[in-house]
Amino acid sequence: MNIVNTIQEVREQVKKWRMEGLTVGLVPTMGYLHEGHKSLIDRAVAENDRVVVSVFVNPMQFGPSEDLESYPRDMDRDAALCEDAGASLIFHPEPSEMYHDDFSSFVDMNTLTGGLCGKTRPIHFRGVCTVVAKLFHIVTPDKAYFGQKDAQQLAVIRHMVSDLDFGVEIVGCPIIREEDGLAKSSRNTYLNPQERQAALVLSRSLKLGKQMMDSGEKDTKAVISAIRSEIEKEPLAKIDYVEIVDWNTLEPVETVEGPVLTAIAVYIGKTRLIDNFIKQ
Ligand code: PAF
Repeated sequence: MNIVNTIQEVREQVKKWRMEGLTVGLVPTMGYLHEGHKSLIDRAVAENDRVVVSVFVNPMQFGPSEDLESYPRDMDRDAALCEDAGASLIFHPEPSEMYHDDFSSFVDMNTLTGGLCGKTRPIHFRGVCTVVAKLFHIVTPDKAYFGQKDAQQLAVIRHMVSDLDFGVEIVGCPIIREEDGLAKSSRNTYLNPQERQAALVLSRSLKLGKQMMDSGEKDTKAVISAIRSEIEKEPLAKIDYVEIVDWNTLEPVETVEGPVLTAIAVYIGKTRLIDNFIKQ
C-alpha cells in the first residue's frame, strides 16, 4: 500500500490501474479511522479491484467556532488500519494541495442542506460537496462509500452525483456501534468517562422511537416528543435537534409513511454527536 500527498501521484496510479482494466473504489475520510471506516474499506475491498482511502481533514466544512484544530489525527494508525483492511492507496493531501491560494469555485445545493445539521452548520455541506466533488475528479472511482451515520451527508452526496452526472455509484453502509450502542465516531474521543456514559442517551432514545414506530405509532410528533423526553432526562445532554423527515427529500413529515429518517444531534458537554435510524 502506498501513501501519496499529491493529486498528480493519485492520477498516475489510477491511470495505471485503468490501463490494466481494474476497477477502483474510493472511501473518503477525515482520518482517525475506527471500525465504522473499516467497515466501509472492507466493503470497498470486497467490491473493487483497488481501493483508495482519502485522509483529509477538510477545513472548508468546519465553521469558525468548530473543532478543525482539535480534530483528532493519527496518520500512522490510519495507515496500519488501511493496510490491514487491504486498501491499495492512501491519498493524504495538505490543505494547500486541495485548495490553492485563489481557490474560488464551490459546489452548493439549494435543497437537502438547509435542515437537520445544516441549520447549526450553515457552511458545512458546501464544504463537503466541494471536497467530495474534487475527490471524485481526482480519483475517478467506480464506486464511493459513505456511512449512514452521516445520513444527511449521504443523501446530499447522492443528490449531487445525480445533479452533476458524476459517473460514480454511491454505496451507503450501515452504522457501526460500540457494544453498548454508541455509534462509532472519531469525535467520541473527546468524551470523558462520565460523558461517554451520558452519550448512550442518543442510541437509547432512538431505540425508544424505533420501538414506537415498530408497534404502529404513525404520529411523528408523538415519537419526537418521546425521544426528546428521554434525552432531557440526561443532565449532560443538550438537544440540537430531533427530527423525523422523508428519507428522500429530508423535509419534515407528520406521519410515518414510506422511508423516514429519524435523526438527532445532541451536545454531550461540548461534544456534538449525531445518530439516526431509517424506517422503510
Ligand atoms: O464524512 C466525512 O468524514 C467527511 O465529511 C468527508 C465525506 C470525508 C468529506 O470531508
